[in-house]
Amino acid sequence: MTENEQPKTKGRLFHRPLAFLCAALALQACGGGSGSSASKAPSGETPPGGVAWQWNLPAGFTPPPVPKDNPMSVAKVELGRALFHDVRLSGNATQSCASCHTQESAFTDNRSLSRGSTGEVHPRNAQPLANVAWNTTLTWANPNERTLEHQMLTPIFGTNPVELGVNEGNRASVLARFQSDAGYAQRFKAAFAGEADPVNWDNIVKAIAAFERSLVSADSRYDRSVAGKASLTAQETRGMKLFFGDQARCSQCHGSPNFNDQFSTAASLQADPSFHNTGLFNIGGTGAYPEPNRGVFEITGQAQDMGRFRAASLRNIELTAPYMHDGSIGTLEAVLDFYAAGGREVGNGLYAGDGRLNPYKDERISQIRLDATDKADLVAFLKTLTDTAFVTNPAFSAPASR
Ligand code: HEC
Ligand code: HEC
Repeated sequence: MTENEQPKTKGRLFHRPLAFLCAALALQACGGGSGSSASKAPSGETPPGGVAWQWNLPAGFTPPPVPKDNPMSVAKVELGRALFHDVRLSGNATQSCASCHTQESAFTDNRSLSRGSTGEVHPRNAQPLANVAWNTTLTWANPNERTLEHQMLTPIFGTNPVELGVNEGNRASVLARFQSDAGYAQRFKAAFAGEADPVNWDNIVKAIAAFERSLVSADSRYDRSVAGKASLTAQETRGMKLFFGDQARCSQCHGSPNFNDQFSTAASLQADPSFHNTGLFNIGGTGAYPEPNRGVFEITGQAQDMGRFRAASLRNIELTAPYMHDGSIGTLEAVLDFYAAGGREVGNGLYAGDGRLNPYKDERISQIRLDATDKADLVAFLKTLTDTAFVTNPAFSAPASR
């Protein structure tokens, strides 16, 4: 893609948070076109006896925030990879993180709603983990969830719903599975050199978080076209121009290098992350969304936060159906129909109401104008965000033996 194909998006389309980001980072998806050379920045911290971590990042990305007490290392990422894929991490040894975050589905589970290790249904759709390290907040709608380490306590120890199902009763015996495994004992020693008793819950969480930070996806056909290594078809190019333009407005909420609008780096933490109501529901005309999926309202109880969710990253979106926080839209075509209509009318049943008229809806959703060709062009563009190398990269797969 040349500079000329995207310049209209610069500055004008971005509302406050992204304008700040674009200025700070010279982002490719903002039309900054910072070139194709990969940037390599060392983490600067080599753990005792460990191999230093090299970020191997594509254009537009700089290293993500990393907590001071959990520096990256090759040994830690390797350990985290094994733990992420190991069903022994769940109380009944049936489920791992990868059960709901499967690599071939861009680390989602392709279900509308996830199912935990004891069969409980999660109220929300499993999120993809590509480039998760750059997300300013985590999960669908929680302004307070800021680190991968803290977020992980929910899937491991949470009871509402039960996911991996580790609790007071089985906590010690689940840990003992790893303590008594010679291979793991060695990996923990390598990853947490110098610690007398490294196989503990704190280090399990740290290692998996380090693995999650290594999940970088930026080698889609779109990325390669930006780098001048591939070209998009005429239809995909039309879709791209729509995506970044005034008529479809997609980039106003999905315009960061990660195709969302919550993007923080080590050098620049986003201060005021946004959440948006897109008009999926409007129960009885009151603006309400179904419990417990009322967005940021679940956390704050403030009326204006009703139905406000984090704009999802659109990387690998072709592989992560069904869509939205509750998995209630099945296909990309249907998502585009939803945006073209300016929201969703739920005709009957418990949740009946016209989401298009939701009083809390982001005004930009009503301004989207798309005909049938536009919708098809946008779907074609979204499919250029599929990163085949990412979903087949052996470095992210279950280790062959543990
Ligand atoms: C039962 C299925 C299930 C399991 C098991 C599971 N997750 Fe998730 N994950 C989800 C769902 C559903 C969400 C969305 C949660 C929400 O919004 O409340 C999610 C969200 C996340 C997020 C937030 C992503 C983002 O973009 O904000 C991260 C990170 C994550 N999970 C990591 C993990 C890790 C690490 C494990 C293993 C320790 C794990 N998950 C186990 C279903 C699961
Ligand atoms: C006002 C901000 C805003 C605009 C404009 C916007 N989106 Fe979104 N988008 C969101 C939010 C918020 C969500 C999550 C909504 C939810 O789950 O309730 C979302 C979800 C999506 C999803 C589903 C992602 C997933 O993983 O489930 C797709 C696909 C999508 N948007 C594409 C687009 C396209 C294409 C456009 C332009 C036509 C667009 N969006 C315009 C905010 C926006």
